[in-house]
Amino acid sequence: GKAIGVFTSGGDSPGMNSAVRAVVRMGYFLGCHVYYIKEGYQGMVDGGDHIIEATWASSSGIMQLGGTVIGSARCKDFREREGRLQAAHNLVDNNITNLVVIGGDGSLTGANLFRVEWSSLLDELVKQGKITMDKRIRCSHLNIVGLVGSIDNDFCGTDMTIGTDTALHRIIESVDAISTTASSHQRCFIMEVMGRHCGYLALVAGLASEADWIFIPEWPPEAGWEDVMCRKLETERSLGQRLNILLIAEGAIDRQGRAITPDMIKEIITTRLKYDTRVTILGHVQRGGSPSAFDRLLGARMGAEAVLALMDATPNTPACVVSLDGNQTVRVPLMQCVERTQNVKSAMDKKDFEEAVRLRGKS
Ligand code: F6P
Repeated sequence: GKAIGVFTSGGDSPGMNSAVRAVVRMGYFLGCHVYYIKEGYQGMVDGGDHIIEATWASSSGIMQLGGTVIGSARCKDFREREGRLQAAHNLVDNNITNLVVIGGDGSLTGANLFRVEWSSLLDELVKQGKITMDKRIRCSHLNIVGLVGSIDNDFCGTDMTIGTDTALHRIIESVDAISTTASSHQRCFIMEVMGRHCGYLALVAGLASEADWIFIPEWPPEAGWEDVMCRKLETERSLGQRLNILLIAEGAIDRQGRAITPDMIKEIITTRLKYDTRVTILGHVQRGGSPSAFDRLLGARMGAEAVLALMDATPNTPACVVSLDGNQTVRVPLMQCVERTQNVKSAMDKKDFEEAVRLRGKS
């Protein structure tokens, strides 16, 4: 059977364990050897006991756990060719020529680069006398399948990334909790949520929790927004609402691309409306804790499909991402997704926000 390496990379997200478990189990079902590569790319570079064969038992009881039990890291060494050479050596030592990478867009882009370089890395290892020609021939192709694990839902090509649904649950639970105390004291709360440069979490959590105002990077407020916002908050109060909730994505910006921060908003509200206003930064609480049913199933479906994609791969098959399209798991070329995700970023850099929204909307 084929040897498959599975690893998680970049920021962790709830549901990653379920994906790892499914890779192990579908791999076993199809007669493969599955290896955990611990601590992401760092473990691939370091080798040794970072690469260990998975067992049925070691993949039991992890589906319900948040984070990633095989560890994750943001790895500098893998960005250098020397690190990738070392990683290639460790993989071929274990006869691993199939990888499932579970991570965000940076991790998936790195994987694709590795695949493109693979032949030249092996040639170099032969030249250095580290692997035999026979090994080089047996390991000549590296197949890669990516799964998007991130709470941000910032990857083009999939409707949902693994972890987003859980983060949304965590956020709306927190907004609901804040709302009761806010209401008791007739306070206004500004809550900052994660998402890096993506406003998905803030937007969807805001819609699902009756927020009065939402700031997201893709839709910076029009000039004069301060007046409009204050009028909106006043209207809510005049209609009998005892509290105000404003959600702000951590990447929120104005039309000039300057950061909009919770403290700035607090200053505007306290100065103009004299409301008792507090700021809550939700932070990593959003990324932790046990995964929702949706994320457990999403991880499981994607992990199983990833192994099937590896089984179907030929030397000419481009690396793919297993994504969710409607309610189907489908395979999409990895580079196409990475390019589209980068196009969103450049549209944002150019302050072409309408274009960024359009590109994001295409999932
Ligand atoms: O990408 C996931 C994410 O949680 C972002 O929402 C956030 O900006 C970032 O990671 C935080 O990274 P770190 O855990 O390294 O502080």
